[in-house]
Amino acid sequence: MKVLIVGGGGREHALAWKLRRDDPQCGIIAAPGNPGIASLGTCVPVATGDLDGLDALARRESVTFTIVGPEAPLEAGIVDRFRREGLAIFGPTSAAARIETSKRFAKELMLAAGVPTASARTFTKPDAAKAEVRRLGAPVVVKASGIAAGKGVIVATSLSEAEAAIDAMLVDNAFGAAGAEVLVEEFMEGEELSLFALTDGTHLLPFIAAQDHKRIGEGDTGPNTGGMGAYAPVAIAPPSLVQDAVERVLTPTLRAMRAAGCPFTGLLYAGLMLTADGPKVVEFNCRFGDPETQALLPLLASSLLDPMRAIAEGRSIADAPALAWTRGAAVTTVVAAAGYPGTVRSGDVIALPPDSPDVTIFHAGTKRDAVGALVTAGGRVVAVTAVAATIAAAQRRSAEVAAHVVFAGSQHRRDIGWRELARASAPAAPAVPAAPAATP
Ligand code: AMP
Ligand code: GLY
Repeated sequence: MKVLIVGGGGREHALAWKLRRDDPQCGIIAAPGNPGIASLGTCVPVATGDLDGLDALARRESVTFTIVGPEAPLEAGIVDRFRREGLAIFGPTSAAARIETSKRFAKELMLAAGVPTASARTFTKPDAAKAEVRRLGAPVVVKASGIAAGKGVIVATSLSEAEAAIDAMLVDNAFGAAGAEVLVEEFMEGEELSLFALTDGTHLLPFIAAQDHKRIGEGDTGPNTGGMGAYAPVAIAPPSLVQDAVERVLTPTLRAMRAAGCPFTGLLYAGLMLTADGPKVVEFNCRFGDPETQALLPLLASSLLDPMRAIAEGRSIADAPALAWTRGAAVTTVVAAAGYPGTVRSGDVIALPPDSPDVTIFHAGTKRDAVGALVTAGGRVVAVTAVAATIAAAQRRSAEVAAHVVFAGSQHRRDIGWRELARASAPAAPAVPAAPAATP
């Protein structure tokens, strides 16, 4: 067994770590990988955008199958190309990846399939978009339709903020082609959840839910980031809620994708808002989330390798056993570089604490310098996952070890999982006013 992992972040390190746990003999090749993945396998300096290079690498190494971490190569058609050539690969085709790469496509699909989501309309003319914003009133959400490096969503608390966002996208081209089309969307109130499912296009294996922490500051304050931490499980997402989301969100979405001629295979990530009317989709992603993957995989007791391989090889997972989870909780704390989420400084020497059985350090923005020292090379530098019996204990351990990841200007939150802890200490006040009816 030999697996090629495309990508070089914390998500890809966590995937490599889990595959190796599932099969200690599994060969791992990563392109481009990172120094953490290098301790599990071979890293080859091929960029995630170099489809020719990746294709040649997969052939040269005769890999069993390829796993694609980030969305960009999926959008560029790596799965279409590998499949055409008979190479097994885990991920959606470019057309199916539109569920993430085109918010307009995703929204139209959901509305047509009756999948619960915020109502929205698409505009290319600023005046019409502004009229819609005035009709809806603030708060209101303005979104660039395409991929805008996580910056294309403005949750506007005033009409002037919404109008400025429309001008930035449609008049000033702040996001280029990604912002040439904007969605004006109804504001939803509630807590957010990340729900992943492995799928062969028809059948699916849902994960337990996780919660991401997008803001840089403790208490969810300050600017948005790629994600400063995550935890699982989430008490407000018991198996009944996951089942509800499978029935009302994931299954109809897969059906609609098949009907649209672009069946979705790989990992479908639903970003859900738990509103008073039940779970509604905020967005879909066509790949594993980062840093949720780093929190979820250490809790996954059953094999990830087996269903991923089946999906990559085009086999059905109808008879695959449900994913099994260990008891306890995981908290992942991201340690970010100086300046993140703005312009970051690179090249700071990193000292890592020694390994311990309950904590795993996943590399993200790290590299080896000319003399082999580990240095910072990106915004999110490492992700520290602690697994413990309770969220409180996992949070303590994760923050403690994160504090021992030492480099100039390092920053991390010490409150990952705070919503869960607040719930635990106030059980009489449910965070979701009217939980959706539980399906047995
Ligand atoms: P997205 O890139 O679509 O996930 O949006 C980024 C973030 O904006 C989400 O994680 C939400 O916190 C927020 N957001 C997006 N759409 C809405 C909405 N309709 N109502 C409230 N918040 C939203
Ligand atoms: N955690 C958010 C994402 O992966 O898009």
